[in-house]
Amino acid sequence: MHFCSLPIFGLLSLLLPLTKALAPTHLVYEFPNGTWIENLAVRSCGSVLLTIITSPDLYLINPLSHSPKPVHLHHFDSALWLVGITETTPDTFHLVAANGTFATPAPAPGSNRIYTVAFPPNSDTPRISLAATLPEAQLLNGLTTLDSTTILAADSQKGVVWAINIITSRSRIVLNDPLMAPGPLLPTLGINGLKLRGSTLYFTNSAQALLAKIEINPDGTAAGKAIVVARSPTGANFDDFALDWRGDAFLATGPGNSIEEVGSDGEPQVIIAGIVNSTEIAEPTSAQFGRTAADREVLYVTTGGGLAAPVDGDEIVGGQLVAVDTDGLWRV
Ligand SMILES: *[C@@H]1O[C@H](CO)[C@@H](O)[C@H](O)[C@H]1NC(C)=O
Ligand SMILES: *[C@@H]1O[C@H](CO)[C@@H](O)[C@H](O)[C@H]1NC(C)=O
Ligand SMILES: *[C@@H]1O[C@H](CO)[C@@H](O)[C@H](O)[C@H]1NC(C)=O
Repeated sequence: MHFCSLPIFGLLSLLLPLTKALAPTHLVYEFPNGTWIENLAVRSCGSVLLTIITSPDLYLINPLSHSPKPVHLHHFDSALWLVGITETTPDTFHLVAANGTFATPAPAPGSNRIYTVAFPPNSDTPRISLAATLPEAQLLNGLTTLDSTTILAADSQKGVVWAINIITSRSRIVLNDPLMAPGPLLPTLGINGLKLRGSTLYFTNSAQALLAKIEINPDGTAAGKAIVVARSPTGANFDDFALDWRGDAFLATGPGNSIEEVGSDGEPQVIIAGIVNSTEIAEPTSAQFGRTAADREVLYVTTGGGLAAPVDGDEIVGGQLVAVDTDGLWRV
């Protein structure tokens, strides 16, 4: 259900003081009920890779096509779920596969693996290979790219960041800060999404309901202590996020059913899309901006469909890919 009529917008913006102008959204595609889309990576050609948590499946969808339909790329037999995904060199991606399930969101010990998904030139059929196993990792979640051979992985349960060399398969813990730790309400979900801008690593912590940042060295180790950028005003636990070209964060608010924009120093902090009581963006999980001339200002958002926190307490839809048009939002 989409609450698009003006009276409802008007009513809800009175109830939700953080909501100012909401960006228009459109549903690119909705998967079947019971599908939780966990993360996404936008290819330079415009199509979008989607990782699923409710089954170990990787999809590709072109949101710029006339009637977007996902193409099933791969079923990872060795795992039960797929989580974070990041690109290192052009059209070469890496993702986390492990034996977690939606019902027990702590993977089987020793089951975390990184796979490489590499597209040959002008091809939509990737070569998929095992890049690394991380026997000591607990719940690998968001990924980001440190350099062309090294990725950083958030370990939500251990509350640390791993650096993984995807060529040598070597991995080690590089960051361990109290702001990355899980908490009593979500004992396996501390640090969740992470994104690098220059030497500043931004990250969300779901259990602590905050966005933080930490200065890092070229090898990923800490060059300071982490500091809080913003806390969730509603307590809705932040999931993954995107950074725009000037460093503003666009956070998936999970059960908040919205996208919250936070300036690089914490101000302003506003909901720019979605409404808590609408399935328009039902339990968002991650976001990334488009990369072609046609969609650079479109924020692509993945959702879990309300599977963990049904909208209005009882509404569940299939996991969605939603396009949020941020064009009109940009302030001068
Ligand atoms: C989706 O599944 C949930 C249970 O998993 C159910 O409560 C809900 O009614 C379903 N929605 C639709 C549209 O089928
Ligand atoms: C993970 O799950 C797969 C698929 O069920 C299974 O083959 C594999 O043995 C499991 N690995 C671990 C470490 O539990
Ligand atoms: C919004 O949904 C929540 C449950 O998710 C409910 O407690 C609240 O009353 C709803 N608010 C409105 C305005 O419908």
